[in-house]
Amino acid sequence: MTTLHVVDHVLLAHRLAELRDVATPSARFRKLLAEIGAILTLEATRSLPARTTRITTPLTAMEHRVLAAPEPVLVAVLRAGLGLMEGGMQVLPEAPVGHVGLVRDEHTLKPSQYMLRMPPEVRTRGAILFDPMLATGGSAAAAVQRVKEAGAPHIRFVCVVAAPEGVARLAKAHPDVPVYTAALDERLDHRGFILPGLGDAGDRCFGTEG
Ligand code: PRP
Repeated sequence: MTTLHVVDHVLLAHRLAELRDVATPSARFRKLLAEIGAILTLEATRSLPARTTRITTPLTAMEHRVLAAPEPVLVAVLRAGLGLMEGGMQVLPEAPVGHVGLVRDEHTLKPSQYMLRMPPEVRTRGAILFDPMLATGGSAAAAVQRVKEAGAPHIRFVCVVAAPEGVARLAKAHPDVPVYTAALDERLDHRGFILPGLGDAGDRCFGTEG
């Protein structure tokens, strides 16, 4: 079963309230998404392995905890994942970046892939995937599958709002992938939109119409 982490922090909730608001314009939406991405990336990387090294301050030497391995690869699920990954890049500025282009058919709700670019480091460093929406879970399951096929030894999935249906589907397809979300919402509507949700994150980010 996928480990679901619903991150509980008032600063995250505060930003999510504004992100969900229908009156929030695109520029503000992108800024909030990046800030939320940074907070969620901190949570998603909490369990990265650490080691101890010896450092010297201006006053003395001491043992200090540092990362045991290079930062994981950051992967945006296009398009909306770009805005969320922006925050991930602020937290992990040295991380290589990959992209998976997926678009969900509005009638069948099935995702189709239109691009894939993955840095070779994914084979040793693993990956953090970013997509604001986990709705039916079809896109998340497909994106995780592509990153596994690229050789990632471990994957974390970061989203903003998750539907129970999507969490269950991703857990069934990829039980080894932990999910970090700002909210577990109620359900999907008849069009496969998350309720209460935040609408179509890609369209809201970039000012397009679905
Ligand atoms: C949205 C969202 C996810 C997907 C979620 O993207 O960003 O990728 O739908 O739906 P699912 O869990 O049912 O697969 P969309 O296909 O609208 O593309 P976009 O980001 O380019 O708008």
